[in-house]
Amino acid sequence: MFSIVMAASMVSAPQSEGFFFKCFCHPAPVTYGCAGSYHGWNRGPVVSAYPVYGQVGYPVYGQYGYNPIVAAPPIVLPPPVVAPKEKSLYERLGGEKAITAVVDDFVARTAKNEKVNFFRKGTDKEWKPTPAQVDQLKKYLVELIGSATGGPQKYTGRDMKSSHAGMKITEAEFNAMAADLKATLDQFKVPAKEQDELFKIVGSTKGDIVEKSKN
Ligand code: HEM
Repeated sequence: MFSIVMAASMVSAPQSEGFFFKCFCHPAPVTYGCAGSYHGWNRGPVVSAYPVYGQVGYPVYGQYGYNPIVAAPPIVLPPPVVAPKEKSLYERLGGEKAITAVVDDFVARTAKNEKVNFFRKGTDKEWKPTPAQVDQLKKYLVELIGSATGGPQKYTGRDMKSSHAGMKITEAEFNAMAADLKATLDQFKVPAKEQDELFKIVGSTKGDIVEKSKN
């Protein structure tokens, strides 16, 4: 019986009397191959340095899976299917520059919307900001949106509950502000999917900002 061990020893183990190999059909090492007396169809084929495999009716090298090259066809695996990772909302919105432009437009729009009453006129929490305070508020908004959408920003302002406490903001005012944000996003041609994602974030602050459910 032929084996890889035999083939290796035939090639790489020259002995003093010439090449020698171990045929598993024989009890002792065999020099220059087995002449075939031990071999027959019942015992399996032999392949040796002698050209016995060329004999008529004798199995040839590679038959019955003895040749590992013939016996083991390469297994070709298909490439792994990896879904491309979606970009963060921050990236899809266009990063800090685009968010800053959105915030500028939105604050100017909502500040003049009477339905929002952003400055809380007529309440004991009226806000009379300096231009620097408006800039600071816009900076906070960019930080807040950036950090909530997957950007590198860190929000450094106060939390929503304490910064709006006592303003008596109604749900109608909150919704009027949301409509202003929608108008801004439409103007900047932000796609519906990104708008929906952003509104989920803004909507999640409602419980902390709205104090009165009705006007
Ligand atoms: C009708 C709705 C809202 C009104 C009238 C309103 C009004 C105000 C006012 C007057 C301030 C300045 C407070 C101060 O500096 O003392 C303020 C601060 C702020 N608001 Fe609103 N706001 C509203 C909704 C929102 C929403 C929906 C967000 C964000 C999702 C938001 C985010 C902020 C932030 C980040 C600040 C700055 C906090 C700080 O000073 O540390 N506001 N808001």
